[in-house]
Amino acid sequence: PEEFKLKPHSVLPRGKPCVVCILDGFGENKHKDQYNAVHSARTPNVDKLRANAQRCRFVQAHGTWVGLPSDDDMGNSEVGHNAIGSGKVYKQGASLVDAALESGDLFKGDGFNHVKQAFVAGGTLHLIGLLSNGGVHARYEQLKQLFRGSFEAGAKRIRLHVLTDGRDVPDGTSIEFVGQLEKDLEDLRAKGCDALIASGGGRMHVTMDRYEADWGIVERGWKAHVLGEAPHKFTSAVEAVTELRKLPKANDQFLEPFVIVDEKTGDAVGTIQDNDAVVLFNYRSDRMVEISKAFEYENFTSFDRVRYPKNLKFAGMLQYDGDLKLPANYLVPPPFIEKTSGEYMVKNGLSIFACSETQKFGHVTFFWNGNRSGYFDEKRETYVEIPSDKCPFNEKPDMKTREITEAGIAALKSGRYDLLRINYASPDMVGHTGSLEATIRACETCDKCLGELLAEVDKLGGVYLVCSDHGNADDMVQRNKKTGQPLTDADGNNMALTSHTLAPVMVAVGGAGLKDSVKMREDLPKAGIASITATFINLCGYEAPSDYEPTLIDA
Ligand code: 3PG
Ligand code: CO
Repeated sequence: PEEFKLKPHSVLPRGKPCVVCILDGFGENKHKDQYNAVHSARTPNVDKLRANAQRCRFVQAHGTWVGLPSDDDMGNSEVGHNAIGSGKVYKQGASLVDAALESGDLFKGDGFNHVKQAFVAGGTLHLIGLLSNGGVHARYEQLKQLFRGSFEAGAKRIRLHVLTDGRDVPDGTSIEFVGQLEKDLEDLRAKGCDALIASGGGRMHVTMDRYEADWGIVERGWKAHVLGEAPHKFTSAVEAVTELRKLPKANDQFLEPFVIVDEKTGDAVGTIQDNDAVVLFNYRSDRMVEISKAFEYENFTSFDRVRYPKNLKFAGMLQYDGDLKLPANYLVPPPFIEKTSGEYMVKNGLSIFACSETQKFGHVTFFWNGNRSGYFDEKRETYVEIPSDKCPFNEKPDMKTREITEAGIAALKSGRYDLLRINYASPDMVGHTGSLEATIRACETCDKCLGELLAEVDKLGGVYLVCSDHGNADDMVQRNKKTGQPLTDADGNNMALTSHTLAPVMVAVGGAGLKDSVKMREDLPKAGIASITATFINLCGYEAPSDYEPTLIDA
């Protein structure tokens, strides 16, 4: 179709395989000491790329560069892959929810009216999601406005089902978040609302699985939130979190599921019943899709729900999957991301290969394609998912880097693909565990595998672009803001940084098939990762669409 026609590039040839490799969570941090796993790791291949100043530069990957509310917001893989896949900066869920609360539109929309039907008729309103200020999946201030606004709109009984974070915010902060929530609910109770925390658990162990890596996680959530069943029962959530953190190897991310019970009767205070209202208050989609299916789908076989409440009024903060229309009801319309690079490419006759392991599979497919779950053209696209391990990733820090590399090399050798999108998950996923040693190991394995992948590109006369989507492994300690020195706990140990960082990320181009004349432009000192898209479209031999962020290269 005419509107998707790309102009051939005036200088760069078509027909050379182009590999775009994303080292997930591999930032270029200003702190270059031993706590920076990216710099502490031996990475001869990345070093070589970095050393070629003509063909390597750094771009911004956080805040307003990727559609987040402010430049204090660290980047993340959702917004990062949206930007890299679509070539544009869209206002993202975090920003859209803020705006909808600020204007009051959230409380006037169809989604809110849908859940309101249940709670004005006497049903309980259940709010389920991540208790955090990380701003990646959810933000506490938004939750607070949501329960206050719901009370004003007629909700007389509210139950919160909270997932503790420790991944987008420091480990251990769950106690403060739960304490704050208890205080705010007490205020609400003083106004006459019967509002209580009903259940919870750690985000990596309860409810927030992604890409069907482990449905058992979602099942534990269902049992706690809906059925009121969990191995641990407490009469207060602060007590729950405090006690569960004392179990061996416990932390906020992996906290055991718990249910809050009535002091006198011992009954769960907030099971989900027929005719209730349920809102998932996370805006980010990947970790809400499975629990949404469990609530929304009449026929559902991924685990035994035991009891499926009838006539629930269910909504997501956003719609999490536009193709599946999941969920059907939502409080805020999601960003509408269109005319992504993948769609352009297949409509210009290019063939695409995309590969990662389970934990990042949807990143190089779903997020890359503007939050679409299918193919644009199945004949021209192959998506390969390597199953991830099901363990804390510091225990197996190589993750599936080797297997992804082998799949990438095989796809290159097949000669079938014009563009190959590869995501190495481990710098990010291991970085989130807070283990410095394991994250260094992850970076070293990635570098080794990257070397092998790029060697194959050279052998075939291809081209490549190596980049990242946001920082993470580049800083593994919390720091004193003034001195930059690591913060220490009561025992004198450094306090781990499990979250992403604000660091810029590298973009390097190369390959035996790249014309000698190609170098980084000098007139874009402040580019962001959305400029990566036009850059690899050029490498494939085409001019980028004129409304994309500008290319990083001169040819
Ligand atoms: C997660 O969901 O694992 C983290 O909150 C963010 O990680 P990602 O943006 O790198 O996927
Ligand atoms: Co991450």
